[in-house]
Amino acid sequence: MSDAFKLAWRYPDDHADLLIDCVARLNGVGRDQVLLGDGSGEILKLCAEAFTGPTSADRRGPAGRGTMVVADPTFEAILDHARVNGAEVVKVSLTSAFAHDLPKMAAAANEGLIYICNPNNPTASITPKNELRDLIAKAPRQTMTLVDEAYYHYADSPDYESVIPLIKDYPNLIVARTFSKIYGMAGLRCGYCIAQRETIERIRSYQAWDSVNIMALVAAMASLDDADQVANGRRLNSETKAFLTGQLDAMGYEQIPSQANFVMIDMKRPVVPLIKAFKERNVQVGRLFPALPNHMRLTIGKKLRALLNVLPSFGDLFPNIKRTSANHRSAEFRRRCRVTGINGVSLHSYRHAWAHRAKACGYPQRFAQEALGHSSRAVHEAYAKGAFVVCPALDEYEATAARKIVNMPRLLAR
Ligand SMILES: Cc1ncc(COP(=O)(O)O)c(C=O)c1O
Repeated sequence: MSDAFKLAWRYPDDHADLLIDCVARLNGVGRDQVLLGDGSGEILKLCAEAFTGPTSADRRGPAGRGTMVVADPTFEAILDHARVNGAEVVKVSLTSAFAHDLPKMAAAANEGLIYICNPNNPTASITPKNELRDLIAKAPRQTMTLVDEAYYHYADSPDYESVIPLIKDYPNLIVARTFSKIYGMAGLRCGYCIAQRETIERIRSYQAWDSVNIMALVAAMASLDDADQVANGRRLNSETKAFLTGQLDAMGYEQIPSQANFVMIDMKRPVVPLIKAFKERNVQVGRLFPALPNHMRLTIGKKLRALLNVLPSFGDLFPNIKRTSANHRSAEFRRRCRVTGINGVSLHSYRHAWAHRAKACGYPQRFAQEALGHSSRAVHEAYAKGAFVVCPALDEYEATAARKIVNMPRLLAR
């Protein structure tokens, strides 16, 4: 990439051609079946422009457009583009297994475009391959199906497949891919779509010339040339995901099984104040997805340790362990202690551990002092009430007049 700086004064056509060749080879399609985009976000926008708008019954715009049908929740960028285009947007809830409800989506389609995000953002769930094949086979020709495979590389379920091999049979099928995820190029902006030639030409007519810059093109080619890039990315992601989900399980947080590079966690209470509280502790988590107001999306990455340090402050870590001397030494108790980093403590030193965690989580010194100010007996009594919190959420803690640790479970349950 540093060599490519000296190319920056040139238009990027030649490099775009080279990348198109690589992408076509990689996916076993012709080069006229590939359209590059300024990120796959541009591809989504172009598809909304080309295929959504007022339906033929209420035709105010060009022919061949119609309703936009999406899952709820899903990656929402395309909805706004369709709305701007004057299209009706129909949202269809995910199934109880967090898959796209394809029969309902097909029934809601009216020409236009069905958008299927697989694996889905924000749920990291997949839509089973047989169901998707069925939808593609049955969709009327005047309804386009756009399958967004941004997270394709992370999915390892036997129930998952890319639908690129189906494109040869369906002129109304488009698949979007991106270099932003496994290739780590989100800031450089490069994505693409694959479809039959006529479909690509229809989409291209809405695109600005040379929309992908030369640095992104060079980086994308370098990524494809690196034989280890995808394998390493997948391995790192799955190892870290296994670690993260293990830790979350141990803390009692349920998650939607993830087939992507993020995890959707059920926080069991509104997530908006939590997002804010995490941000204040320098942990950036996903935004609110209104269809799942208690779920928090967490991207798997290097800052995981910071997150795991903060996470204990948001849950009741010792929910139902009764105070008996046997329980203090139970495997469950020790496991939870390990999760919170208070290895092997007895209840007598529990308040010290609490103070330590308060400090580690960046709470003001006075919180640690206050924790130490509680007598062992008070801690025992609180603990005996059945639930206890290692580090209470700061705002809630400050909001209590009494400022007693024992109040925390009640506050957290609100
Ligand atoms: C499902 C999905 N599609 C597309 C995009 C856009 O990606 P790009 O960076 O390629 O524009 C994202 C970004 O987060 C995404 O999650």
